[in-house]
Amino acid sequence: MERQEIKTLLQDPPIGSQVTVMGWVRAWRGNRFMVLNDGSGPETLQVVVDGNRIDEATLRGIGFHACVSATGVLTESQGSGQSVEVIADSVTIFGENELSRYPLQPKKQSMEFLRDNAQFRMRTNTFSSVFRVRHGLAYAVNKYFHDRGYYNLHTPIITGNDAEGAGEMFRVSTLDPLNPPKTEDGQIDYRQDFFGKATNLTVSGQLQAEIGALALGKVYTFGPTFRAENSNTSRHLAEFWMIEPEIAFADLENDMELAEDFVKYLINYCLEHYAGDLEYLDARIQEAEKNMKATDRRPMGLIDTLKFVVGNDFARVTYTEALDILMRSKAYKKGKFEFPLEWGTDLQAEHERYLVEKHFQRPVIVRDYPKDIKAFYMRQNDDGKTVAAMDVLFPYIGEVIGGSQREEREDKLRQRMHEMNIHAEELDWYLQLRTFGGCPHAGFGLGFERIVQFITGMGNIRDVIPFPRAPRLAQF
Ligand code: 4AD
Ligand code: MG
Repeated sequence: MERQEIKTLLQDPPIGSQVTVMGWVRAWRGNRFMVLNDGSGPETLQVVVDGNRIDEATLRGIGFHACVSATGVLTESQGSGQSVEVIADSVTIFGENELSRYPLQPKKQSMEFLRDNAQFRMRTNTFSSVFRVRHGLAYAVNKYFHDRGYYNLHTPIITGNDAEGAGEMFRVSTLDPLNPPKTEDGQIDYRQDFFGKATNLTVSGQLQAEIGALALGKVYTFGPTFRAENSNTSRHLAEFWMIEPEIAFADLENDMELAEDFVKYLINYCLEHYAGDLEYLDARIQEAEKNMKATDRRPMGLIDTLKFVVGNDFARVTYTEALDILMRSKAYKKGKFEFPLEWGTDLQAEHERYLVEKHFQRPVIVRDYPKDIKAFYMRQNDDGKTVAAMDVLFPYIGEVIGGSQREEREDKLRQRMHEMNIHAEELDWYLQLRTFGGCPHAGFGLGFERIVQFITGMGNIRDVIPFPRAPRLAQF
């Protein structure tokens, strides 16, 4: 089969030549104007279908989301709204679409409804734009690191470790769930399981990435991660993709610099290469906000927000300073926060959003968190209370990046693991990275869906991954 892609055709339209386009009908007007989109970009192409040239049966087959091929001469358009159009000599219907039985309809449909009908949601303007941008970001991630001499490391999806020590793991087992073998004291005997030990889906590739960094210098992972946390929110998925750079000879300052430079690069890449999709998504938000109270609307449009983020330095504060700002805020004094604030408690989304959207009005990097709310591998600061951790907080989303300088001192790491009840035998290989030829190193994890969510302006994280996994949600 031969066809021209609409995106390419419109870049430099070969007026006067014969072209063949194939795609799905977005609109069918006056039994004469067929608006086609083929997924190559957000652009549509109008095809003029003349009833005198095209037979009755074919005409009847044209309709919303039917799949067609059209051949004809590309001409300058007489009508307004498009610069060129195809005057069809022939039209072939690949797939008719019986509208009375088709789940989607040519009208506004709710995000929830479209999620339930994910077999078709990518045919809508919104979702096709979101998934093109998602692709662009995945490419930009690899380009950014490749161009700077990082090596991509494929870390395992099945592992015996709990990298975050939070116990939020999905068990991987081939044992008979109804009749598992038992040990003498009545526990499930995972020694008889497929891997001869208890295994789970990975929550992070970081610990293995550290192995890579301490040999290759600079590495990054980009893979699926799984968390069995029962968080039914618009920012949590049970299966999400994470990018984890890990660098040798680096401290927390280097880590923060990399994080800021990296996310700005990703945003710039989209502004440059996916302008059409972003314009569509921007307009979509402004349309949705028309019926909202002024206080609920975004202070800036989507593209302006993105430009603002890349054009300004991120604010940087310590956890202690952040807490101080929060506790002195009007919102806190008026009891506007739901969750309590006290030195040592974790910042909740409402606190993060206050810092970013109200106080600093730009992205914020919070560093030096209390050690008791952070993972065992983070480097202990000299104050004995905090660790060299940092979170990057964004408007609307909150945390997009979490990272740290790693504890490279074996004795300190052992002591912390002991305090946190993490068995040294299980992470012997991790400890050995300190015993033998270790060095200061640091890294972070960027939640891929969170940055896609920020850049596309989508309200729910489930709408930026093709097939979301969340509590009670594993369709497709
Ligand atoms: O802060 P987290 O838990 O950090 C780690 O996993 C470290 N091992 C990273 C590292 O230092 N190499 O997760 C990192 C990021 C978060 O900032 C967030 O953006 C995202 O992963 N994330 C989630 N995204 C979607 N759904 C969830 N349930 C997520 N949990 C974390
Ligand atoms: Mg985190």
